[in-house]
Amino acid sequence: MASPRTVPLLYLLILVLASLAAAEIRFTEIRSDDRPIIPFDEFGFTHTGRLELNLSHITLSPAFPDSELGKVGFFLCTRDSWLHVLQQLEDEEISCVLQSDLVKHVFSFDKLQGDKSSINTVYSQNDADQYTLVFANCLQKPQPLKVSMDVRSAMYNLDGKSGTRDYLSAGRTILPRVYFLFFLIYFALAGLWIYVLYKKRLTVFKIHFFMLAVVVLKGLNLLCEAEDKSYIKRTGSAHGWDVLFYMFSFLKGIMLFTLIVLIGTGWSFLKPYLQDKEKKVLMIVIPLQVVANIAQVVIDETGPFAQDWVTWKQVFLLVDVVCCCAVLFPIVWSIKNLREAARTDGKAAVNLMKLTLFRQYYIVVICYIYFTRVVVYALETITSYKYLWTSVVAAELATLAFYAFTGYKFRPEAHNPYFVIDDEEEEAAAEALKLEDEFEL
Ligand SMILES: *[C@@H]1O[C@H](CO)[C@@H](O)[C@H](O)[C@H]1NC(C)=O
Repeated sequence: MASPRTVPLLYLLILVLASLAAAEIRFTEIRSDDRPIIPFDEFGFTHTGRLELNLSHITLSPAFPDSELGKVGFFLCTRDSWLHVLQQLEDEEISCVLQSDLVKHVFSFDKLQGDKSSINTVYSQNDADQYTLVFANCLQKPQPLKVSMDVRSAMYNLDGKSGTRDYLSAGRTILPRVYFLFFLIYFALAGLWIYVLYKKRLTVFKIHFFMLAVVVLKGLNLLCEAEDKSYIKRTGSAHGWDVLFYMFSFLKGIMLFTLIVLIGTGWSFLKPYLQDKEKKVLMIVIPLQVVANIAQVVIDETGPFAQDWVTWKQVFLLVDVVCCCAVLFPIVWSIKNLREAARTDGKAAVNLMKLTLFRQYYIVVICYIYFTRVVVYALETITSYKYLWTSVVAAELATLAFYAFTGYKFRPEAHNPYFVIDDEEEEAAAEALKLEDEFEL
């Protein structure tokens, strides 16, 4: 799909990517900030969790007495206990979050020593749970304390026997293996498809090569994701693989939606050209996919507490919903056209077969969209942090099923059923089509 129109956008995407240094070890610059609460990052700890906190270039203004600085510092807190802490604050049991015994005190600024501009600490977190690292500044009166500092935060779990660091959150630590497994499956699928294309080469359409490209891209995408995640697991930072990963997911996203539209229009099966309105759908979906991919990159790289995260998330959801709805139109148009054709050209059996196929496809596309958007999201929300990988597996299985269905139903057919139909079948189909008309889609 490297039309002249999309190439500059591709460069733009690469630029966006290059400027983002991805990492599970996070660097954050805080400048003259007087927010009472600044959330940093979330992480699933096992029983051997560690938090490394390196602060540098600390400046506090105006000056408060050292004894007061105990009310400024970092803590870890689970989502559940956060609600209780808020309750405690409301009931005035405590005046500062750091006084609560429900939070894990990591470091407060009264412990600053020497020139007071930097500190390195390691905190051992031995209660397994999902925690958020938060900075609290309770010095808001008479005038708020303004804090500037460079924060490097690294959270990891120590591996049971070897004691090596695992920078992936507890529920994500097996993801590299999951992605690699799915890569192998798609690799096999691509091999199978090439075999089918070769066997049935006389009845292969252009769209079949397009399908091959989508499967190959999906496989490469998974391979990069596996490598990216495993590199992060070992070192805490991404290393170029993420750029490849985003490139492939970008291409894959565009190709997959284009493929759904092309199949939906019946391109190369039913007709060798695209109608204007069908081209328009593609012209909407492709740029929107570009936007969706950029949004996805920002979402992944910044984490849920960055300032624009929510905006990007909303952009992504909106664009995604529009794309998902847009790809359904061509299928509906095809179904309508087939119905009309059935009435006029008298080839009832052929049309019924195509009609059934497109109907099934319509339903499967809807199921696929619904499952990967809604069900997976619900799974992510309700499963415990330890089983976060299950939602990834569910999404990948659904995608695999969708690819397999599409490939199977639209495979190149050696004996074309469209032309060998006897009279009996034709009559039965004509009957069925009459019934058809009574039910609207
Ligand atoms: C951060 O602090 C830890 C604990 O003192 C130390 O081992 C580590 O080297 C520090 N990292 C950096 C980049 O300063």
